[in-house]
Amino acid sequence: MKYDKLLLTNQIASKDYYQDTISKTAKAISKSFNSSFAYKGLTPADLKKELETTEVLPQKAKSYDEVLEDLSKKILPNFLYTSSKKYMAHLHSPAIIDSIASELIISTFNQSMDSWDQSPIATEVELITIKTLSKLYGYTNNSDGVFTSGGSQSNFSGIMCARDWYCNEILKHDIKKEGLPSNYSKFRFYTSSVSHFSVEKSAHILGFGYDSVRKVDVDSSFKMDTLKLEEMIQEDIINGNIPTAVIATLGTTDFGSIDDVKRIREICDYHNMYLHSDAAYGGALIFSEKHKYKIEGIELSDSITIDFHKMFLLPISCSAFLVKDKTLLTPYQLHADYLNREEDEEQGYTNLVGKTIQTTRRFDALKVWVAFQTQGIEGFSSIVDTCVNNANKLYNLLDIEEDYTVLIEPELSSVVFKYKGSNNLNKKIRKTLMHENGLVIGQTSVNNITYLKCTLLNPLIDIYDLGHIIKSINNIVKNNFKK
Ligand SMILES: Cc1ncc(COP(=O)(O)O)c(C=O)c1O
Repeated sequence: MKYDKLLLTNQIASKDYYQDTISKTAKAISKSFNSSFAYKGLTPADLKKELETTEVLPQKAKSYDEVLEDLSKKILPNFLYTSSKKYMAHLHSPAIIDSIASELIISTFNQSMDSWDQSPIATEVELITIKTLSKLYGYTNNSDGVFTSGGSQSNFSGIMCARDWYCNEILKHDIKKEGLPSNYSKFRFYTSSVSHFSVEKSAHILGFGYDSVRKVDVDSSFKMDTLKLEEMIQEDIINGNIPTAVIATLGTTDFGSIDDVKRIREICDYHNMYLHSDAAYGGALIFSEKHKYKIEGIELSDSITIDFHKMFLLPISCSAFLVKDKTLLTPYQLHADYLNREEDEEQGYTNLVGKTIQTTRRFDALKVWVAFQTQGIEGFSSIVDTCVNNANKLYNLLDIEEDYTVLIEPELSSVVFKYKGSNNLNKKIRKTLMHENGLVIGQTSVNNITYLKCTLLNPLIDIYDLGHIIKSINNIVKNNFKK
């Protein structure tokens, strides 16, 4: 039969082919894990050359074995190995093995989360997982939420819900029907100067523009200065602007610093403003008995971003957007006769498309449902504590080194530092580490000074690995850049 190996069905030939293909692939992947390096070191030009000899679109089909051989030679070895103890560049984690198995289930069944009839059990799993998360973060039964593609989409949703809430509740303007109110250019959104750039991107996409985002100065710990926030709000009121929402960051991208969400809530209440907490990174602290006090008050936010593809170590993509009051999600509600009929809801069939900008959507909730069970509270608590401890250890190691400057004591799991010397030297160090030492670390800039950054999300990293970073940098400087 022509198509007997195309899809997984109840036919024996198809099942055999499925199992064989998956197990061969799993073997090839495992085999490629043959070094401690995070990256083999090839440059963009090297990689382009490597790919030149593969005909991507042949006239005649190749066998999977043939393609897998090519994959094993050219692609697999040149991946960034996110589970390597030498990878610590970004808020980009390795993936827990159980959750990789969940990915196989997700793509094999290929459910689409828009309507119940495209994802019956998957819809129910997402609903119960969202309930579990809402409870975990201190929300009541009146809350709701949805899985999204990532922190950027979750933050976008936060800002959009803030906009609609402000228009409907405060201005009594039906934005869904009438569009933006005439004074929309006066709306102001406040966030710290070190918050994620998705805040500005969202403000632009929502029609407000970058200038509607007021960047509040941070204190010496890179937390939003709440006195400055109040001053800015007052100044905006005097100038006829409309303070609409604050986007607090619980775990900034570079520093892991955590804004004072309790104080920000008081300010928002005083001025009738919406509060969204971007806890994409810091949300994982909820599992740590030792560190969860740092995000105390998160439940006071009107909405929350949590990324599971960061400190929860789940495969990309996996994020949740939670709202304290389920009516906040109504901006996303719209019925189509071909998809999510009103009568479905009346009959108990939930169509999740009414909670998100996406229509076709992955069953990412399964990864959380599985990993929460296979790790338990204890497992995640241990992962989080190990990563935060590692950051403190690296901070202490760097702090006693004469040739290094460390920016701040870590609150989460990232350490920002520099080798004493020029911006150029630090940039060269990072590139050399990546291309010659298989060690991939991050880079950022503070007040026009280039810093190096280690984002520690891999709980396998130990004190030896942390010391190795410093040794590698010292060697690079000694061998390449010192006369
Ligand atoms: C604090 C914070 N918020 C939001 C995001 C965006 O998340 P995503 O990359 O999942 O869209 C990031 C990404 O690093 C982040 O650090």
